[in-house]
Amino acid sequence: MRGLLACATLARRAAAASSTGAASTTAARRHLAGAAEAAEAELKKTALYDFHVAHGGKMVPFAGWSMPIQYKDTIMDSTLNCRANGSLFDVSHMCGLSLQGRQAIPFLESLVVADVAALKDGTGSLTVFTNDKGGAIDDSVVTKVNDHHVYLVVNAGCRDKDLAHIGAHMEAFQKKGGDVKWHVHDERSLLALQGPLAAPTLQVLTKEDLSKMYFSDFKMIDINGSACFLTRTGYTGEDGFEISVPSENAVDLAKALLEKSEGKVRLTGLGARDSLRLEAGLCLYGNDMEQHITPVEAGLSWAIGKRRKAEGGFLGAEVILKQLKEGPKIRRVGIFSQGPPPRSHSEIVSGTGENIGEVTSGGFSPCLKKNIAMGYVKNGLHKAGTEFKVVVRGKQYDAVVTKMPFVPTKYYKAP
Ligand SMILES: *[C@@H]1O[C@H](CO)[C@@H](O)[C@H](O)[C@H]1NC(C)=O
Ligand SMILES: *[C@@H]1O[C@H](CO)[C@@H](O)[C@H](O)[C@H]1NC(C)=O
Repeated sequence: MRGLLACATLARRAAAASSTGAASTTAARRHLAGAAEAAEAELKKTALYDFHVAHGGKMVPFAGWSMPIQYKDTIMDSTLNCRANGSLFDVSHMCGLSLQGRQAIPFLESLVVADVAALKDGTGSLTVFTNDKGGAIDDSVVTKVNDHHVYLVVNAGCRDKDLAHIGAHMEAFQKKGGDVKWHVHDERSLLALQGPLAAPTLQVLTKEDLSKMYFSDFKMIDINGSACFLTRTGYTGEDGFEISVPSENAVDLAKALLEKSEGKVRLTGLGARDSLRLEAGLCLYGNDMEQHITPVEAGLSWAIGKRRKAEGGFLGAEVILKQLKEGPKIRRVGIFSQGPPPRSHSEIVSGTGENIGEVTSGGFSPCLKKNIAMGYVKNGLHKAGTEFKVVVRGKQYDAVVTKMPFVPTKYYKAP
């Protein structure tokens, strides 16, 4: 879920850019520095930008924002600390929006695969916005606040495309008399607090009994004196929360959370966020999910509501319902491999060298201390234990399909 781009790729690109030997003259160097400054100036900054810089955040361009890829800790250490203690991420680049009105739910259901109507008030689910071919426009966590209000968080990199898509369909829907309007929560920031210390740390700052709030539950509550939207969810596989906070209180809240954990919850950047989500087997939009990939191919059939499977009524439903019945041609799988870590676009080949698929995300797992990857292979080659090769820098290495998540998830579920 949650469209980050490939952080590792970004980091490599940034490193390559800074070590380029092209600027041989002072003028050329000045020109390059000027261009970099101009590019930097165009990037959007979250309310926590100065806070990141003051805490040693290494800022990189990410989906049009200047975001910390890491702080003083290595990505390896940050990943391990999240699972052992806790992490605080600024994810304010992601786009929170509310749909409100008597037909807010039917409207949303015309665009996503979830059975939103069946959600209990104050609970949510992962969902997918589809196009008319059944491909994924974006993935999103949707919460039913009540019958007339749904709250969504969509990916930063998909924001413009998503808002244009939702906006165009909303206009048509309103013309037919549908009662729905939207609000994009640009006045708010979003913090993700993840790991075993997330709940005890947050509990100190709110009167709400968090032990009664389970995975995917949502509440509008007071935290550290400000009116927050709290969702028990995340993108790491750990227990944790996403906290939508008025931007003027975001720095105060971040400080309070770090203080209350006595330094055990650490600021964590996009680099470790990518390792954590990969270990948890979660899709990264733009890598593991794209316009031409359906939720069925992506292994997200579980996110298609039972009623939606029977009735359709979302874009591309014919394609998706047919795939559910007949099976998709390709499937997303988890992979262990030998040799150097495979990356997005590494080819997957059979023992005889025939192309059978492609890696979409990969890296060295800080927790498992071995290579993990996900990718797409032909249907039939997706079962755990199936062996093939991945091609990294022109060489073939042994690889095997494995069940995901790679690292067990620890969501706080109702007993
Ligand atoms: C968890 O926090 C403690 C206390 O700050 C620290 O000593 C330990 O190294 C942390 N664990 C990991 C795996 O980072
Ligand atoms: C929130 O936490 C910060 C940092 O601990 C503190 O300075 C501030 O007063 C708190 N705000 C409220 C309204 O409690």
